Amino acid sequence: MFPCDFAWGAATAAYQIEGGWDSDNKGPSIWDTFCHQDKGSRVSGGQNADVTCSSYVMWEKDLQCIQQLGLTHYRMSLSWARLLPDGTTKNVNQKGVQYYNKVINDLLLRKVSPMVTLYHFDLPQALQEQGGWKSSNMATLFDSYARFCFQTFGDRVKLWITINEPYVCAKLGHEDGVHAPGVKEPGTAAYLVGHNMLRGHAMAWHSYDTLYRSKQKGAVSIAINSDWAEPLDPSDAEDVTATKRYLAFTLGWFAWPVFVTGDYPEIMRAAVDAQSKKLGYGGDRCRLPTFSQDEPAILGSADFFALNYYTSRKVKPRRGSGQMLCVKSDQDAEDVMDPSWPVCGVSWLAVVPHGLRKLLCYVKETFNNPEVYITENGFAQTGPLQMEDSERCRFYQDTINEVANAIGKDGVNVRGYFAWSLMDNFEWADGFSTRFGLFHVDFSDPERTRSIYRSGREYAQIISKYRSQTSS
Ligand code: GAL
Repeated sequence: MFPCDFAWGAATAAYQIEGGWDSDNKGPSIWDTFCHQDKGSRVSGGQNADVTCSSYVMWEKDLQCIQQLGLTHYRMSLSWARLLPDGTTKNVNQKGVQYYNKVINDLLLRKVSPMVTLYHFDLPQALQEQGGWKSSNMATLFDSYARFCFQTFGDRVKLWITINEPYVCAKLGHEDGVHAPGVKEPGTAAYLVGHNMLRGHAMAWHSYDTLYRSKQKGAVSIAINSDWAEPLDPSDAEDVTATKRYLAFTLGWFAWPVFVTGDYPEIMRAAVDAQSKKLGYGGDRCRLPTFSQDEPAILGSADFFALNYYTSRKVKPRRGSGQMLCVKSDQDAEDVMDPSWPVCGVSWLAVVPHGLRKLLCYVKETFNNPEVYITENGFAQTGPLQMEDSERCRFYQDTINEVANAIGKDGVNVRGYFAWSLMDNFEWADGFSTRFGLFHVDFSDPERTRSIYRSGREYAQIISKYRSQTSS
């Protein structure tokens, strides 16, 4: 059974839906640059999100979709470069402030609570030119931006996410180079970026705590993505240890410092250091940085656990590939899919609803039974458009059942569920070919018409069913 104040939501992110990439003084972000440069080579079909769902001018259409689903909450992100074109508070773009004021006010008028993400992959390009997230300064710049947002919108926004998926920014953006800013510096940059993101997050949390909390009474967290992982052979001790390493390098990388010790998991640091030694990396130089005692504490810098879950893996040790300096070889774990799991749309997305329940139990046990919001979870469609998306309907039913069991049977304190995504949008390097929406968006139509998928109708029914049970 879901608590009566359970958050039923859907999520989006600014770059993926807004368009208006250079409208009304918005500054470019690293995703604008990433898509515009080397045209055709970085994103599927050479696409970009210059227009995408056009939510910057068509926000009312999104609002209608939100109402049609009967959502109680809507998770959205702010475009840093729309609010602060050069990334700093010296130059505030009032048009950007007006846009988000309108969005937030419109939501509240319809009794929909916004959950607002400050950073969802789209760093102002001007800050990238000063070194981006690899630079230590970025943490204080992020803190200034966060304070500006708390000050400007915090009278109405009560749920904040500082940074979305630091793992993805760090690894895909700075190790694999398949996300903006397209940096490929394996084995070093990802750890630095993750570190600066954690520092920036903690500074922002402390700013909220000391300057805004008593008045605004909201809550702040960081959205951490992780697969659920199990040993390929649970009776094989090496598989069991490899699984621990796998989880330490995904969920643990960011959740351990915030919720458990204020530092990275020991198993992670030991693995990185051992690999550095083995490959003769730079004497005393440490690839995984250390947190300074002189900065705001990382430990305790979250008011709830924000979890993005998509898929699960079976894990065994990695064989014969430890000669490279990279996160994967530090992690030393090979992940495979169980052949019984169906794969939807994209190749990485094995559909494993029961993995979410297991991950929720793991979060409860490992991180001291926090309040949890599932801030993203979804099912991709590719190929021919299917408006009658029965597999996705099944996926949402199964997943929400698993969440209900996690709450009712396992006692996990789940406070909300956000489907990814409200509507089809620009799916990063996959462009528009991968569709995660509860609404379809016709990108060939200048009106960007939104049409509800069957899964959208069913999600609306699920919400209405549970809400009527809890209110009666
Ligand atoms: C997440 C990301 C979202 C969305 C989703 C689906 O990593 O936060 O923006 O793209 O994946 O792949």
